[in-house]
Amino acid sequence: MRFDILTLFPGIFSGYLGQSLLKKGIDAGLIDVQLHDIRRWSRDKHHKVDDRPFGGGPGMILQVEPVVECVEAVQQMAQHEGTQPQEMQAGHLVMLSPRGRTLNQKIVEELAGKPRLLLLCGRYEGFDERVFDILQPDEISIGDYVLNGGEAAAMVVIDACVRLIPGVLGDEESSQHDSFSRSNFSGSNSSGGNLSSSNRLLEFPQYSRPREFRGHEVPEVLVSGNHEQIARWRREQSYLQTRKRRSDLLTDDEKSNDQ
Ligand code: ADE
Repeated sequence: MRFDILTLFPGIFSGYLGQSLLKKGIDAGLIDVQLHDIRRWSRDKHHKVDDRPFGGGPGMILQVEPVVECVEAVQQMAQHEGTQPQEMQAGHLVMLSPRGRTLNQKIVEELAGKPRLLLLCGRYEGFDERVFDILQPDEISIGDYVLNGGEAAAMVVIDACVRLIPGVLGDEESSQHDSFSRSNFSGSNSSGGNLSSSNRLLEFPQYSRPREFRGHEVPEVLVSGNHEQIARWRREQSYLQTRKRRSDLLTDDEKSNDQ
């Protein structure tokens, strides 16, 4: 999967891209991340890309020309060595913005299914509205709060997507059990309840050695060796955790269901 990040601050990403899973995925050729400095498309000799808003008001606005021209140029960029041809089709344009649809696991699955994403990061007071009119990006917010720019949000999108790329996680199955994931439906709960919705549940609790620490023991069922019982316990726990912490994810019927 290919990510093109369009930003005024490409340096922000260097630590993140050089670490852990992401680096592994890049080294293995499963992920390709290219950074593009929007200032390169400035028409100003000082590389300015922002200006004061018409009508007055605080802050600076990212100008329409450099942003639109940067996106158009990146969409047309030549194939990089090792990049799959389908990844060089025009990418799906995502703009990180607090007014976008709020990111959740379903949207992550949708985005991770695209061969190529362009992630457009804003700064200052926002973009000239004509950027939206012309480019019609898929606006994505990572929550109801305002960041200084879209860079941290772009990292969140990349981080969540790469977990779903086959081969990036060591254990192929491990993202399937993630909270909110497609395979963690309440509808797949077979613990006796009549749950029928397709809500996504929180992940069940996990334990590792030691079996006892300061009087806190690992649940007996997990060391029983009975895989059927373990699977059942985990489904129940997923439901109970969701009911306790995020009952908004359950239907009214599910909330009152005695598991
Ligand atoms: N840019 C500023 N705030 C943001 C948010 N909450 N989500 C995505 N991009 C943003």
